[in-house]
Amino acid sequence: GAPIQADISKLEPGQRMTVEWRGRPVWIVKRTDDMIERTENFDPARLVDPDSQAPQQPDYITGPLRSIRPDISVLIGICTHLGCSPLYRPEPDDVDMTAWPGGYFCPCHGSYFDLSGRVFRNVPAPSNLEVPPYRFETDDIIIVG
Ligand code: FES
Repeated sequence: GAPIQADISKLEPGQRMTVEWRGRPVWIVKRTDDMIERTENFDPARLVDPDSQAPQQPDYITGPLRSIRPDISVLIGICTHLGCSPLYRPEPDDVDMTAWPGGYFCPCHGSYFDLSGRVFRNVPAPSNLEVPPYRFETDDIIIVG
């Protein structure tokens, strides 16, 4: 499949948009400072692969945010368990932010991922959501593929 272009100029902080690449949904989320902070400060012990050692992302993606720009997250929107599409649940749990920092929930068999697509321990999904190859052509145009 050819690379695709995504225009993120209308994406508001906290919002997600979906584009299609190679027949798969690609999520692009504009993270708020609060979302970035919650992700960076989340307890790595609760995640299967907090440093994303598994090959689920390009080499140029590092760190807990798993993104080129801290404010923009790009993920393949397909659960690494059996391929359902997880739901976007960006709001943290008010009662106990350490319990749920916001992220994605897969309703098929109950897998949780943080806002970087890092999978929680003790859920069916074995690995983090995939980060596709991408780059910024301009501040507002992302090329995926
Ligand atoms: Fe997502 Fe099974 S397909 S938890």
